[in-house]
Parts: sequence; C-alpha cells; structure tokens
Amino acid sequence: MIASDVKATLSFSDGSPSMELPLYKGTIGPDVIDIRKLYAQTGKFTYDPGFLSTASCNSTITYIDGDKGELRYRGYPIDQLATQCDFLETCYLLLKGELPNPQQKKDFDRLVSTHTMVNEQMQFFLRGFRRDAHPMAVMTGLVGALSAFYHDSTDITNPVHRDISAIRLIAKMPTLVAMAYKYGIGQPYIYPQNKLSYSANFMRMMFGTPCEDYEPNDVLVRAMDRIFILHADHEQNASTSTVRLCGSSGTNPFAAIAAGVACLWGPAHGGANEAALNMLEEIQRNGGVEKIGEFIKNVKDKNSNVKLMGFGHRVYKNYDPRAKLMRETCHEVLQATGLHDDPLFKLAMALEKIALEDDYFVSRKLYPNVDFYSGIVQRAIGIPVSLFTAVFALARTVGWIAQLNEMIGDPEYKIGRPRQLFVGAPHRDVLPITQR
Ligand code: SDX
Repeated sequence: MIASDVKATLSFSDGSPSMELPLYKGTIGPDVIDIRKLYAQTGKFTYDPGFLSTASCNSTITYIDGDKGELRYRGYPIDQLATQCDFLETCYLLLKGELPNPQQKKDFDRLVSTHTMVNEQMQFFLRGFRRDAHPMAVMTGLVGALSAFYHDSTDITNPVHRDISAIRLIAKMPTLVAMAYKYGIGQPYIYPQNKLSYSANFMRMMFGTPCEDYEPNDVLVRAMDRIFILHADHEQNASTSTVRLCGSSGTNPFAAIAAGVACLWGPAHGGANEAALNMLEEIQRNGGVEKIGEFIKNVKDKNSNVKLMGFGHRVYKNYDPRAKLMRETCHEVLQATGLHDDPLFKLAMALEKIALEDDYFVSRKLYPNVDFYSGIVQRAIGIPVSLFTAVFALARTVGWIAQLNEMIGDPEYKIGRPRQLFVGAPHRDVLPITQR
C-alpha cells in the first residue's frame, strides 16, 4: 500500500488535542485512513458495528467494485475466469497469485486428485448424526474433525504445513459434502475416482451408486465447475473475516475453515441460496407468478420481517456479476436437463423483473446477488436444497485458505481483538441473596 500525500486531521470541539491521521492508497478502490494510533493518542475508539466503513486488512486477492458490479480474482474479471478457466485453475490463481501454465496445471490437478480420500475413521463421525441432520451441521463437525487426523499440517506458522493443509482441504471438501449427502439419504459412500476431473468426481460421489457405472453429463459438470468458480472468494465477507479472526489466534487451518463453514450457514450469508429457493417454492405453492405482487407487498411491509432472499448486498449496489453468470448457467442447465419450462426459473425471472422496476428495491439499490439463481441451477443439477450452502462452503474453502494464508504471511499481523463502547452498569456491589 502507498502512503498518500493527503492527510486527515481529527479535531475535537472541546479543545482536546487534534490528531493527524495518515492515508494509504491501494492499487484501485477506496483509500484508507490509518487509525492504528488513535486510541493511544486520544483514548478514544472508532465505532463501526457491522464494519460498514472499516478495512480490516490490505489484500491482493479479490477486488469488488460494488457500484459498477465488478468482481476480480487477482485482477482477472470473474466472467473471463468463469468462461475460460476451470475451478482448479482458479484455486491455483487464488492460492499462488498467478494462473498456472500447462505443466503447473497438470501437477496441481494431480496433487489435488491424490488427496481426495478422507481417513476411513471420518465415516464414524457421520454415524453420530441423525440422518436428517442439516448438512451444514455435519460439515461444521467434519471440517473441524479433520484437524484430528493431520497433525503433520496443523502448524499454521509453517508455510509447508499451510501448503499441505490447503491441498487437503480443497481436495477433501467434495468428498465430505458427498458423504454428508449420502449419509442423509441412506446410500453408501462413493469413493473418489482420480481419473475424473474435480467437478466430475464430485458429481459421481454425489449421484453415483455401487450398482452401476456413473456417466457424468458434461454440461452439468461444466455448470458445477462454474458454480464453484463463482463462489470461490469474495473479499472480506462475513465468513472470510471469521476465518481471518479465528486463524489470527494461531489455531490450525482446519479449525479456522470450520469457523468459516459455521458462519457461512447463516441465511443472511451463504444460507441465502437455500432460503431463496424455499422462498420461490413457497410463492409457487401460493399461486406462482400471479402472487408475486402480494409477496412484494409483504416484503415492503417492515412488520412482516419478510426479505426477498437472494436480493441485496452489503457491497454490490448494482447487479452482482455472479448473478448474471449464474442466470446464463441456469439457461444452459435447464436446456440440458429438459427443464427449460421450469416454473421456478420463470418465476425467478418474473420476480427479478418486477423487483427491479419497483422503487422500494431501486431506491435501496437492491439487485439479485449470487444466491438468487444458484439454487435453481443446483436444483436442476439434482442437488437437494439443504445441501446448497454446503456446496457454497466447498467452493469458498479455497478463498478462505488464500485469505488466511495471506494474513499469516503478513509480518505485521496480530491477533484480532476489537474493543467496544460500554453502555452497561458502570459499577455496583453484590448484595447477599437474602437482600436481592
Ligand atoms: C452473500 O458479503 C459478501 O460478499 C457475501 C457474499 C459472498 O460471496 O461472500 O456475496 C454472499 O452472503 C450474498 C448475500 C446473501 N443474502 C441474502 O440474499 C439475504 C437477503 N439480503 C439481505 O439480508 C441483505 O441485503 C444483506 C444482508 C445481504 C445486506 O444487508 P445490509 O448491507 O446490512 O443492508 P441492510 O440490511 O441495511 O438493508 C438496507 C435496506 C434496509 O431497508 P431500510 O431499513 O433502509 O428501509 O434494504 C432493505 C433493508 O430492510 N433490504 C431488503 C433486502 N436486503 C436489504 N429488503 C428486502 N429484501 C432484501 N433482500
């Protein structure tokens, strides 16, 4: 980051000493005001619950321009990556900062494919869950449990350990997600097959059975791979910030990623794709397109607590570029699966059209986000609604790892420890219980 020649001056109307704050410029995007010395010099904290105006770090990984609706991984626009690369190339890029050449791609693909199996003991964790456990409950447990098996890659300060655990996590997440799915439907686990591509391997572990050969459908595999690319990283979102804060204590990479899985589960974040599809199904059940007006009316009524799931974003105040690509993928998959008349897709497009013409959404700059269409694509591929967020976690694992490694590799990093504005009882003495 580059020191700006512009300074910020903080002054107080009560005559307290003013303070000069340095500004830093990034390569693109907003400048930052360095407040690291603020408390030491003024005895005051900044106040920014939800971190609407706070940069927690400097990063070279992902850039988002919310006003223009732009997303770039290591400088490459998401639409170019999603149409010209595969997910493992994107993983290589996020982890190492450059796209691989043919030999590097071959070696990386081989390295990942030879780490896809999990320890046989992992299946006994699954047996402890009810069959109807939510897959994200299972994934939170399984990912954390990985730290019990790989003691040769749990030292987050050791770059070799970080590299090994990164490959293990990227390689094993598809196996674990497929195991969580199979456990829920009472089918046997399908072992990974290294001759298949990353996404074809995942599809086979999900939908194959020991009873017959599984022939991956190339259009669906490509769509799955694109879904992974679109979800791979997204700057300092809630789950990534969770992983950074968790990892800043020096805990092992598996535990830090498990914290990210837990955070992603929430409906305001990665759980929105499941919530968005459930919302579309409910509107469909209650009358479909004809009932959209009534639903929108409900959303606009503050007391209803109803949100248009898959719409709105903390950063994007324009169309989420991933939503555009996801909608295109929807068309491809629905054509390939003969579901081109899928009523939910038609309902989603009608809902989007109406919302984007309604002042409530326009005035609040609420546009479809990545979760609005991803559920329809995944449903058409055959993925159950309850597994959508686990698929999101599978894809986001590489982003979490890249961000965690960037933090740990920064010589300036410290354990994250925010402060507060205390508004509780200042001081009182305990009374004996007979006097309370
Ligand atoms: C992801 O951060 C990331 O990068 C996340 C993510 C990633 O890749 O990691 O992009 C993935 O999490 C995408 C977002 C998925 N969530 C949803 O689709 C859930 C529905 N969306 C909302 O909950 C909401 O839009 C958030 C949480 C996404 C953003 O909320 P903000 O930035 O805190 O904005 P806000 O809640 O203050 O909303 C501003 C206004 C409010 O109205 P007013 O109080 O001003 O009258 O917009 C309204 C909100 O009520 N609003 C919505 C709405 N989202 C915001 N109203 C109806 N439907 C919605 N979806």
